[in-house]
Amino acid sequence: MELVNSKEIFKSALENNYAIGAFNFINIETLKSILKAAEENKSPVIVQCSTGAIKYAGVDVLADICRLYASKMTVPVCLNLDHGKSFEDCKMCIDAGFTNVMIDASSLPYEENIELTKKVVEYAHSKGVTVEAELGVLAGIEDEVSASDEDAKFTDPKQAKDFVTRTGVDSLAVAIGTSHGTVKFKGEAKLRFDILEQIGNELPGFPLVLHGASSIPQDMVALAEKYGAKLKGSCGIPEDMLRRACAMNVCKVNVDSDLRLSFTAGLRQSLAENPENVDIRNYNKVGMELITNVVKGKMDNVFGSSNRA
Ligand code: G3H
Ligand code: 13P
Ligand code: ZN
Repeated sequence: MELVNSKEIFKSALENNYAIGAFNFINIETLKSILKAAEENKSPVIVQCSTGAIKYAGVDVLADICRLYASKMTVPVCLNLDHGKSFEDCKMCIDAGFTNVMIDASSLPYEENIELTKKVVEYAHSKGVTVEAELGVLAGIEDEVSASDEDAKFTDPKQAKDFVTRTGVDSLAVAIGTSHGTVKFKGEAKLRFDILEQIGNELPGFPLVLHGASSIPQDMVALAEKYGAKLKGSCGIPEDMLRRACAMNVCKVNVDSDLRLSFTAGLRQSLAENPENVDIRNYNKVGMELITNVVKGKMDNVFGSSNRA
């Protein structure tokens, strides 16, 4: 199939209370592992590249391999720029064939976020590309944060409505307590479902996005650590919480760390157990299989996107 934009897959996700996983890739190995899971599970899927991935592999290479693999598939694939920081980042990806771009101007003052997002939306929509923006600040693991400081970082529901109305953006990443990376909480996991619900009330039927949504599966942590990794304190978003968010207006869930962790665990195991092997394909294959398993598990048991394509 041809690559699709986000509008083409979010409608059904919203109507049927499931979400679509957005998985980061940086090369053929990560891309193929994700697409294999989507095809086998008959699930729509979003694959995405950060600007770091683009620096690593090249924008045209990433767009072209994705388009080529997707053309042989029977499920819809959307190719997204993850955390674009400037109009130029977004334009480069749109021109290379990406079908959704994220403009992350959440660190700018509110009016500047609106201005930049609007500029991206205008260009993207003229090319049939959809746009995700972000409002609020994703939580970091900080020692002393007062409740009012913490509240200031979460997405303001009324502001979210104003932002979407004024920018014409197609989806919105919200801050409700998730964070990027392998260490997400110091104590107990906590997400602000009250805020998520209020945003949903302000923006009924509008697609919301959760970043920093890896669950950091403890079996993968244990496997990686068995073979020498040091991952002290790793913990992610419990699957129950993600299921609850997916049944609300969240219809895109971003996952990168779980894939990195799984691939690394497989690679470490394979290298340690097969010291005589120097064929790169042999150990890559083990990492790839673990990525595919993790993605399939999420589609089946957490996001509910299997058999929806
Ligand atoms: O949101 C961040 C993603 O995990 C991408 O990370 O910038 O290291 O490629 P990266
Ligand atoms: P994780 O670090 O939780 O996988 O989040 C990835 C992400 O949000 C990419 O934009
Ligand atoms: Zn993110």
